[in-house]
Amino acid sequence: MSSPQKKSQKFEVDAVPQHIAVIMDGNGRWAKSRMKPRHAGHRAGVKSVRQTVELAAQRGVSYLTLFAFSSENWRRPEDEVTRLMGLFLEALQREVDSLHRNDVRLKFIGARDQLHKDLVKKICAAEDVTKNNAGLNLQVAVAYGGRWDIVNAAKTLATRAVNGEISVADMHDDNFAAELALGDAPDPDLLIRTGGEQRISNFLLWNLAYAELWFTECLWPDFDAQEFDEALAFYASRQRRYGYTGDQVA
Ligand code: FPP
Repeated sequence: MSSPQKKSQKFEVDAVPQHIAVIMDGNGRWAKSRMKPRHAGHRAGVKSVRQTVELAAQRGVSYLTLFAFSSENWRRPEDEVTRLMGLFLEALQREVDSLHRNDVRLKFIGARDQLHKDLVKKICAAEDVTKNNAGLNLQVAVAYGGRWDIVNAAKTLATRAVNGEISVADMHDDNFAAELALGDAPDPDLLIRTGGEQRISNFLLWNLAYAELWFTECLWPDFDAQEFDEALAFYASRQRRYGYTGDQVA
């Protein structure tokens, strides 16, 4: 869904965002400040992932989308990339049963063709086993980039047009958005970025169009319930206008 005014004609902000997206930044600095190697920071970050998933479910969030590895992260030292991929595989193996028991539906978004086949196999199996769950929708972005996503969707619609299935005039933001990695999931209401940087870094470029943005200095491995609730309180204080005036919304 890409047109907020179509999605919702009521303007009061729900106290809890339906969809939270998170840029988990600061693992490297967390490790460095403890004289540890960077991968120790990523490993510590897995604990924050687990806790954040639990908190999101407890607070009534329906969708949680985590940026675990960007299209640009392939540029990192080979050893760090290898360890990160190993960590994703390990976390999947260890956590899927518990996610399934807790009714979480798991989905991965990103360029799967760039991932090792063993990881892709685990991803497909995890998605399959959790596909009918009705609790939290947990979406993990791996080898994901917002520009990659938009180009993919454009290619899909262009192919349909070339095949005569749709006309160019029939291309709208709704059917375009449906071809993006998030598909028919609602757009994120709130973006949380840890680690002090204030940028979007090629995450969900289309879908974040109307998200409220919350940045914190907290490094990802230190992200906890207090930080999460601060972000929720910030969100609850926002007036979302979607192009209308404040008076119209009020
Ligand atoms: C950014 O911090 C973090 C990453 C690129 C990796 C995120 C991965 C995890 C939290 C591991 C577990 C994830 C899942 C989904 C199981 P950074 O390395 O850029 O930190 P820095 O800016 O301090 O160097």
